Amino acid sequence: MTKPGILVTRAVFPDLLERLSHYFEIESNQEDRIFSEQELAQKMRDKDGVYTTPSERVSAQTIAACPKLKAICNMAVGYNNIDLDAATKAGIMVTNTPDVLNETTADFGWALLMATARRITESEHWLRAGKWEKWRYDVFLGADVHGTTLGIIGMGRIGQAIARRSTGFGMQVIYHNRSRLSEDLERAANHARYVGKEDLLRNADHVILVLPYSAASHHTIAAAELALMKPTATLVNIARGGIVDDVALIAALRSGKIAAAGLDVFENEPKLHPDFLTLSNVVLTPHIASASEPTRRAMANTAANNLIAALTGGRPANLLNPECGAAKA
Ligand code: DGY
Repeated sequence: MTKPGILVTRAVFPDLLERLSHYFEIESNQEDRIFSEQELAQKMRDKDGVYTTPSERVSAQTIAACPKLKAICNMAVGYNNIDLDAATKAGIMVTNTPDVLNETTADFGWALLMATARRITESEHWLRAGKWEKWRYDVFLGADVHGTTLGIIGMGRIGQAIARRSTGFGMQVIYHNRSRLSEDLERAANHARYVGKEDLLRNADHVILVLPYSAASHHTIAAAELALMKPTATLVNIARGGIVDDVALIAALRSGKIAAAGLDVFENEPKLHPDFLTLSNVVLTPHIASASEPTRRAMANTAANNLIAALTGGRPANLLNPECGAAKA
């Protein structure tokens, strides 16, 4: 019996390919070229399944060009790169990798918050440039983290993991989310208090964004929202590019409307707005919030398990569109 054919769109751990090869005929991209949308559609056209990463855009057109396709398994918790509606209408299963990255991503949110508030990268660049000649009382004065108010926008599992970590810093947590958490969950999240978005922006000393990207969350933080924030506040984005209006943020950082930002994600990444590179009050990282070795392996295995289940008659554990079966029937 011939094995189902799959495309692995980007480089992956070599042992993962070896595992997948027991189940599938694989076309893989270990040379890690970035496919154009057309090229991706052309490579997916005769495949039963595709293993994607957040950098591939799987559009309605691409989906329409793939009559055999049964599953798109994304190695990420976010899946805004995939047209879920189009996949569902075409009867194609779509999966993501939730949960396995919650704690690692929360750790990184804290790393970015601390680096931003305490000017870690800026001061390191200065030191490396040989500029450190003497101790001074006012060198790289930053913002305190302990004892301040943390505002979390997007209080899903990662947001809650971030809130739990704030206990040791003696912080107050306020949050904004599509819906309010249960009292038990709020208590576990350092007694987080549900507030409106404007209230959060006005009162938080540090704002961290952990909400999923969608048309509704596009530019959740733009000029009007930045104007509400304290001039001493910091903003951290570990969610998705597009949730922040990068041009508005650059203007706010330049004019001192807010003190600093820590960004792991960008509009049009990896081509970030060049003006970010000219600002000293922003910490920039290349979309690595989930990038610890064990977590990236867990994400890779979760995506592979989903693909194996989807193409061997099972139900993938992380199926996002169970209603796709109805479309296929
Ligand atoms: C995710 O899982 O959505 C992350 O952004 C990928 O690193």
